[in-house]
This record gives sequence, C-alpha cells and structure tokens, in this order.
Amino acid sequence: MTRLARPFVVAVVLLLAVGTMSACLAAEPNGVDPDSIKRGAYLATASDCAACHTAPGGLAFAGGLPIASPVGTIFSTNITPSASAGIGNYSEVDFARAVRRGVRKDGGNLYPAMPYTSYRLLTDADIHDLYNYFRHGVAAVDLVPRRTALPFPMNIRASMIGWNLLFLSSASFVADPHQSADWNRGAYLANGPAHCSTCHTPRGFLMQELSGSNLAGGQVGPWFAPNITSDASSGIGSWTQQELVQYLRTGSLPPKARAAGSMGEAVEHSFQYLTSADVAAIATYIRAIPAVHDGSDSQSRFGYGTAGSMLGTLRGANGIRSDTGTSPTGAELFLSNCASCHASRGQGSKDDYYPSLFHNSVTGAANSSNLIATILYGVDRKISSGQAYMPGFGGHKTDPSQFNDNEIVLLANYVFQQYGRAGTTVSRGDVAVVRQGGPSSSLVLLAQIGVAAAACVLLLLVLFLIFRAARRRRTA
Ligand code: HEC
Ligand code: HEC
Ligand code: HEC
Repeated sequence: MTRLARPFVVAVVLLLAVGTMSACLAAEPNGVDPDSIKRGAYLATASDCAACHTAPGGLAFAGGLPIASPVGTIFSTNITPSASAGIGNYSEVDFARAVRRGVRKDGGNLYPAMPYTSYRLLTDADIHDLYNYFRHGVAAVDLVPRRTALPFPMNIRASMIGWNLLFLSSASFVADPHQSADWNRGAYLANGPAHCSTCHTPRGFLMQELSGSNLAGGQVGPWFAPNITSDASSGIGSWTQQELVQYLRTGSLPPKARAAGSMGEAVEHSFQYLTSADVAAIATYIRAIPAVHDGSDSQSRFGYGTAGSMLGTLRGANGIRSDTGTSPTGAELFLSNCASCHASRGQGSKDDYYPSLFHNSVTGAANSSNLIATILYGVDRKISSGQAYMPGFGGHKTDPSQFNDNEIVLLANYVFQQYGRAGTTVSRGDVAVVRQGGPSSSLVLLAQIGVAAAACVLLLLVLFLIFRAARRRRTA
C-alpha cells in the first residue's frame, strides 16, 4: 500500500464504523422506529391519557386516579409497560381493543370513564404509534393501583356489553369531502383524541352522550362544561377563530372566559402542547358545530353584569365572618375574601391576571356549578407563560378557616346578583352537590330495584313450578 493510500483506507474504515454506529443508535432496540414513538407521544398528549392515568404526585401513567362518576368512584389503571401491574403483556391488537372498544386483554369490559367511545375514531396508524409509545417511550412502574369496586349491579362488567351494543358506534373516521382539510383534521382531533364531547355533550339516563345535543353542555363531576356550539347566545357563536385558539392554548380569554377545573387541566396537560395547525383545525371545526339554542338565554354568558359594589351600604359594618357573632352578608364576604384580587367593584386587575367578575362566562351562566366550584376549589392552571392561581375557599370541610355551605350560598348569590346573571340563584343543596363531586345518578338504585324485581319474579316462577309438580304427583 502507498503512503497516501493508507490514511485513505483508515478514513474509509472510520467513516464506515461511525456510519454503522450512528445507524445503530438511531434505530431503537427492537427495531422500533423512533419517529413512531415520537408521534405516539404527541398523540398521547393530544388524547390527554395522562389526565386520568397519572395521579397527582404519582408516577407517569401508573394509574390510581379516583374518577367520580354518578354511579361511584372509578380508579384508573396502570398503563405503563410493566408486565405485572401494567399493560406489558398487551399485543398491539389487545391495545387497540382496549382503547377503541373498551375491552381489556382478559376480556373484561372497561367502564366508559375510559373515553373509548371517542377513541374509537383513532386510525390504525395512530393506534400503532400510540402502542409504540406506551411500549417503548414510557417507563414501566410495577405498582398495582387501587381496584374499582362499584356497587352491585354495576360491578358486573359484562353489563357494559349491552351498553356498548346500544351506544358504541363501530363506524371509523371518514373525512367529509365537502369540507376543507383543516375542518376534517379538526373533526378527527375534536371527536377522537381530544374527546371534547365526553365533557361538553349532555348525557342521557343511561349516561350515554345525547348526540342530538352535541356539545350543548354537560356536567363533569363538580364542574359544568358549557354549551360550545355556534349559537350566539347559548354557545360561543360570537367568539372569533383567534379567540377560540387563544382560549384553547392558554385557558385565558379576558374578559370573556377562563379555564378552571377539568378544562384547566385539559389546557395544561394537552391543548397547550398541540401544534398551531392542530389547534387552529380544532377551532375551525368547533366553530362550525350546529347551534343548539336554549330558550332561556337572551345574551351570551360573558355579556352579563357591570362593575359595582355595595360598599356604601356596608360602611360601619364590622361583621366579616359568622364567628363574629353577626351573620355576614354576601357583600361582606366578598369584600373581605375576594376583593383583594378581583377589586372592590369586581373589575379585576388592569393586566387581566385577576379576572373581571362581570362579563365573565362563569358569573353569566344559568348553571351555578362553576361559580360554586371556583369558590370551593379555586383555580390552578400552569402553562408555559405562567400560572393562574386562585386559592380554594372551601375544599377542606374540616378546616374552620374555610367557608361553610351557608357562607358559599350567601357569597355565590351576591356574586350572581351583583356581577352576573341575576336570575341564577344558589341553594344549600346546590353547594352540597358540588362539594360531593357532582350529581349522583339514581341508576344504581334503579338497577338494584330492577335486579331485585327480576329475582322476585324468578323466585315466584320457581315456587309455582315446584307447587305444580307437587300437585301433579299428589293427583297422579
Ligand atoms: C377520562 C379518563 C381517561 C382518559 C383520558 C384515558 N383513560 Fe384509559 N382508562 C381510564 C379508566 C378509568 C380505566 C379503567 C376503567 C375500568 O376499570 O373499567 C382505563 C383503562 C385503560 C386501559 C385498560 C388497562 C387495563 O388493563 O385495565 C388502557 C389500555 C387504557 N386505559 C389506555 C388509555 C390510553 C392509551 C389513553 C389515551 C389515548 C387513555 N387510556 C386515556 C380512564 C381514562
Ligand atoms: C375533561 C373535560 C373537558 C374536555 C375534554 C374539554 N372541555 Fe372544554 N370545558 C370543560 C369545563 C369544565 C369548562 C368550564 C371551565 C370554566 O369555566 O372554568 C370548559 C370550558 C370550555 C370553553 C369555554 C366556554 C365558556 O363560555 O366559558 C370552551 C370554548 C371549551 N371548553 C372548548 C373545548 C374544546 C374545543 C374541547 C376539545 C378540544 C374541550 N373543551 C374539551 C371541560 C372539558
Ligand atoms: C389571591 C387572589 C384571588 C382571590 C382572593 C380570589 N380570586 Fe378568584 N381568581 C383569581 C385568579 C388568579 C383567577 C384565575 C384567572 C385565570 O384563570 O386566568 C380567578 C378566577 C375566578 C373566577 C373565574 C373562574 C373561571 O372558571 O372562569 C371567578 C368566578 C372567581 N375567581 C371568583 C372569586 C370569588 C367569588 C372569590 C372570593 C371567594 C375569589 N375569586 C377570590 C384570583 C383570586
């Protein structure tokens, strides 16, 4: 070999070695495409799997979050790749069946607290990427979360087979050729991964989504997800595309609306991370949702109220809380607990950090849940540009510094009268319902009565048959 050729050969060998090494590094072990894992991570964010499968302070996707449902508390499961506690033994087919059809690997049916009725729209390609992410992009956690134990007969998982026959469509996503690509992408995201309807669509007697009232407003635990159809007064028909995009990305649209409760969480964990194109697509689609009008609405939620205070009538009054001996009025409670941030006339702060309480979709609502829940639990929403934080005033029932139900009634009624929709009133019963995590359903009781009635009929039938057989034998 010549003197010149030797360094050349060495360089080629080195290049080859580096080339093979980087090729090996780029491909994940098991030959899984790293881009697929990345796409899966994005889909998991867009679908907000963490909202339910990661408990506050818990390990990612290890489950155990208690989810209040009208028939009892349902605990989310561990979906990390742990073989003993998670979904490590799930094949892609098993995974697809759980996510889109609500059936576990062992054949047990999942409760629809897992939003498979929306995820059923996920395409095969997206399921493939999600599966790769949950297999190779998530750390295994070997902790088995608390088991769900619903009251009889809801503890019979097979009862969901009937529910699925009635309410789980088998249709997959079909793009509408008459609509733009943007609208179609929005339709896929909003109805599938982002599952807006699971919160915003009212539910019927069997807790199924009422598709005829799509996105016309639904109760989600203590919070109420309002009508977001294109109706100008009942919905958000007067919001511009830009306004809806801003609300979804930041949870803040002064002075119209803020996102607290489950919407605050959806913004924090999911919507703020979506690409601009995807958020715009969702907004395009949502703004075209057919209007659902409620006859009692004459103007939009954010149109009510003006600045004001009852300061004049309070001069000289010294009662602040019930422990002063005199019973406080709503105005007093407001001035001593809320005005420091929302200002004495309810106008909020100039920089909009503290919202105005008039022209605010919570105080202008016909449904009082969100005002009560805001007072009880406060607001805590973290996004890349900062945190929106309001302390809760009543979430801890045993803490004497927190409001009791009566004080919340006085305060909420004052806020509705003074700053919002004066026709909305709050009773102690309303506060008690929000405190216990939302309305409960009579479904369990009715089902128990139904099962008991069926058992009685069966017992009578058996007794009758025994009686008849005995008589035949006697007469024979
Ligand atoms: C709104 C809450 C919620 C969201 C969002 C959610 N899940 Fe679930 N998921 C649940 C609950 C609750 C269960 C358990 C239900 C039961 O025990 O019947 C569950 C069960 C599962 C199971 C079955 C595991 C097993 O063996 O028990 C899988 C798999 C699963 N979820 C995957 C996902 C994925 C992937 C996402 C995101 C695309 C997701 N989930 C989003 C609530 C949710
Ligand atoms: C987990 C439940 C949940 C999901 C999922 C959800 N929302 Fe919400 N949404 C709520 C709740 C609760 C509120 C009320 C928040 C408040 O007033 O603080 C709300 C409020 C809103 C508002 C403000 C309405 C107003 O007048 O104040 C808009 C707009 C909205 N959601 C759009 C969407 C869209 C679009 C999606 C799907 C991409 C979606 N939401 C998904 C629960 C949810
Ligand atoms: C320490 C400051 C502070 C105090 C005290 C306070 N708030 Fe708030 N409030 C906030 C902040 C911050 C927000 C959320 C702003 C956002 O979401 O961007 C908020 C939001 C709200 C909202 C809108 C919630 C929504 O979902 O849109 C209402 C209504 C409200 N507060 C009422 C009250 C009432 C009534 C009191 C008195 C019991 C009170 N606040 C006390 C800071 C405060």
